[in-house]
Amino acid sequence: MSRVMESLFQPLQVGRLTIPNRIAMSPMTREFSPGGVPGADVAEYYRKRAAGGVGLIVTEGAAIDHPLAVDGTAIPHLYGEAALAGWRGVVAAVHAAGGTIVPQLWHQGVLRDASRSALPQEVGNRPSGLWGKPGVTTYTADYVAKMAPPTRPMTDSEIADIIAAYGRSARFSLAAGFDGIAIHGAHGYLIDTFFWPDTNRRTDRWGGDARARAESGVEVVREIRRAVGDGVPIIFRFSQHKQQDYKARFAATPQELGITLGALADAGVDMFDASARKFDFPTFPEAAAPDNTRPLAAWARHLTGKPSMAVGGIGLDNDPREGLEQLARAFEQGMFDMIAVGRTLLADPAWANRARAGEAWQPFEPSCAERLL
Ligand SMILES: Cc1cc2nc3c(=O)[nH]c(=O)nc-3n(C[C@H](O)[C@H](O)[C@H](O)COP(=O)(O)O)c2cc1C
Repeated sequence: MSRVMESLFQPLQVGRLTIPNRIAMSPMTREFSPGGVPGADVAEYYRKRAAGGVGLIVTEGAAIDHPLAVDGTAIPHLYGEAALAGWRGVVAAVHAAGGTIVPQLWHQGVLRDASRSALPQEVGNRPSGLWGKPGVTTYTADYVAKMAPPTRPMTDSEIADIIAAYGRSARFSLAAGFDGIAIHGAHGYLIDTFFWPDTNRRTDRWGGDARARAESGVEVVREIRRAVGDGVPIIFRFSQHKQQDYKARFAATPQELGITLGALADAGVDMFDASARKFDFPTFPEAAAPDNTRPLAAWARHLTGKPSMAVGGIGLDNDPREGLEQLARAFEQGMFDMIAVGRTLLADPAWANRARAGEAWQPFEPSCAERLL
């Protein structure tokens, strides 16, 4: 076993949860749950990854208990008896395979495409009615033209309803047996568009400086903490990049990032999931040394003292061993506490155990993302 894999197979305590090793499955949307109800195939999909050595599964983004949370009608729900019964089956299968599992609570906000949804007349919830300035994006020009026209800002009561919905879905999740809660606060979805000055021009309590832009995320975390009680781990995913613009940043400086993450940590976040497209990309390359080399997960740990999770490109290199050496160096320097693996685990559910044993694994190719099995 290589040295890095050995250190990645040490347990981690987060709140009252012992995660058996440092490898998480990164949340990946599948849309395989017709009517929002995850079935036996979903349970089998996650079970295979837990059996393959993943210590913590973060599920695909799942709709909180709010009518405008998501668009696609096969995205799983975190409310309603049928969906929650389905999740009980998923959780039981993962636990039986020795893994732990948390649901990713999702509200798509500005990125909800009404035309795909069961409520096509209702546009998505937008902090200031803005979709965000399109930049480097994989969205087509037609799609951007459809989504970009401004709508009305959210009202205070809409914001309060959504915060309450996060709390309800967190409570339902615990009742279904999940081991903790993950919050999707990244990639240009609802919470992230409060963080991002491009989409949050509000001058009330929910907008203004970095601290005010963090407020809706803070209230979501507080509400979830109230709902689940002490000790249940809350994991918060954030990112600089947005699907509207991969080059965008909500925090212009380390100090601004510290204000946002610090407020979230104070509200009750136990671990940060720092979403980057490459786990070791420097976040502020223009800063002075040594800040110019620190990747996003290392910033989260440095600024908050909380454990953090790095993600992006792990296992995708053409030369897997070289990729793992790079990972080993960052992990052993104490930059982060866990890694999350996305596409590599689509290609090979047993990646973790194979990498630990020094065996080759199935390489990712784009058709894996279409199958998502
Ligand atoms: C098919 C697919 C679906 C994804 N869906 C989600 C999602 O629901 N929530 C989320 O936070 N990130 C989502 N992501 C991002 C991944 O969690 C991960 O951060 C990204 O793929 C980079 O990791 P990787 O290089 O290991 O794949 C998705 C990525 C892929 C490829």
